[in-house]
Amino acid sequence: MTKRRKLIVGNWKLHGSIAGNQQLLQQLRLNLQALDAVDFALCLPYVYLFQGQQLLAGSNILWGSQNVSQYDEGAYTSCISAAMIAEFGCSYVIVGHSERRLLRLDSYDIIATKLLRALASGLTPIYCVGETQQERDAGMAEEVIQQQLLNMLNALDDDALERAKSLNIVVAYEPVWAIGSGQHASPQQAQLMHVLIRQLIATRDHALAQQVRILYGGSLTADNAHDMLSMHDIDGGLLGRSSLDAQAFTKVALIA
Ligand code: G3P
Repeated sequence: MTKRRKLIVGNWKLHGSIAGNQQLLQQLRLNLQALDAVDFALCLPYVYLFQGQQLLAGSNILWGSQNVSQYDEGAYTSCISAAMIAEFGCSYVIVGHSERRLLRLDSYDIIATKLLRALASGLTPIYCVGETQQERDAGMAEEVIQQQLLNMLNALDDDALERAKSLNIVVAYEPVWAIGSGQHASPQQAQLMHVLIRQLIATRDHALAQQVRILYGGSLTADNAHDMLSMHDIDGGLLGRSSLDAQAFTKVALIA
């Protein structure tokens, strides 16, 4: 049975300022330095990647972006490519976050392309899936997760699959209704979904299914982290609000 190291990732979303980031990053660096049994990463707004690189290099906190362009290069005003992100020492990139899916910025095809761009540039994708409240109420939660995940699996040809394995691709289950709502999924609800995700991945590649870390995201805080993170198939967390405060993030880190 593979033992997976827990991974705690912060997603700052549209938050931050140069002065505030400096304090937060320095504090986290200090707070987390002795925690060597858990992996940490912070996904920052693009404009703060350089600052993140300056302040986190040499620490046990990796960093990444919250998105990537589906294009490589060319006349695409405002786009940021995977190669550009990689130049800032990033390890991770969030792909398919529901806040991008639901604003209809990212279709299934675009998400699949972004996934491949990230892998080609040596970035580890954090591939997000999650159902809305409406979909859950309609009894379609599993079906939605399956569709979103198959979009990932079908995008991977054999070479990309090997890259996904060597970069240790991450999946995040973030029920949309739990994001920012204060209403997290129950540990049992999340565990069931994580098992489904792992089983689906196993239909494509058994080794990948065993190694892949499946994070839970959606109102994960120090108050519920113990119950959530002790479930067998919850390999860590993707934190929004709780990643904006050094104390809140550290509390979850200590529980992990
Ligand atoms: O990506 C993290 C996220 O969507 C969860 O946000 O604020 O509910 O922890 P939050």
